[in-house]
Amino acid sequence: MMTEKAEKYRLLVNQIQALIAGETDSVAVMANVCAAIHETMHFFWTGFYRVQKDELVLGPFQGPVACMHIAFGRGVCGTAWKERQTIVVPDVEQFPGHIACSSLSRSEIVVPVFGADGEVCAVLDIDSRDLATFDDTDAHYLEAICRLLRGV
Ligand code: SME
Repeated sequence: MMTEKAEKYRLLVNQIQALIAGETDSVAVMANVCAAIHETMHFFWTGFYRVQKDELVLGPFQGPVACMHIAFGRGVCGTAWKERQTIVVPDVEQFPGHIACSSLSRSEIVVPVFGADGEVCAVLDIDSRDLATFDDTDAHYLEAICRLLRGV
């Protein structure tokens, strides 16, 4: 049986698919995608960092103000970019090099977004006020959402 969280995500993926169909402006797409995720799942911070030359630069987001530049391989976001894979952090204090944009953030998930060329073009970063918020279900559905953004 599907968990309540999985069912919420399943509907969200369908909603996002419809929401961004035919839209080619990446900032517009990222803005509505993070708004849809944030409103549905009630996270603390939901947003994108976009690859700009050799660093990540803050993109569309929902939540408190955040740091604007992250170097390749730094923090959870820069590490997800470097490793080209999703990173789930149950306790940010245990992640070496974690970048604290807010002291209220306790756990985090970062999912890479790949461009049409197969390179990471952005990362989706989500923060929670609670420890161990994110699991395989979050990773599975957030990766599905990021695949919808491929090539946008
Ligand atoms: N904690 C992130 C930085 C971004 S903020 O959480 C919005 C990191 O370590 O990469």
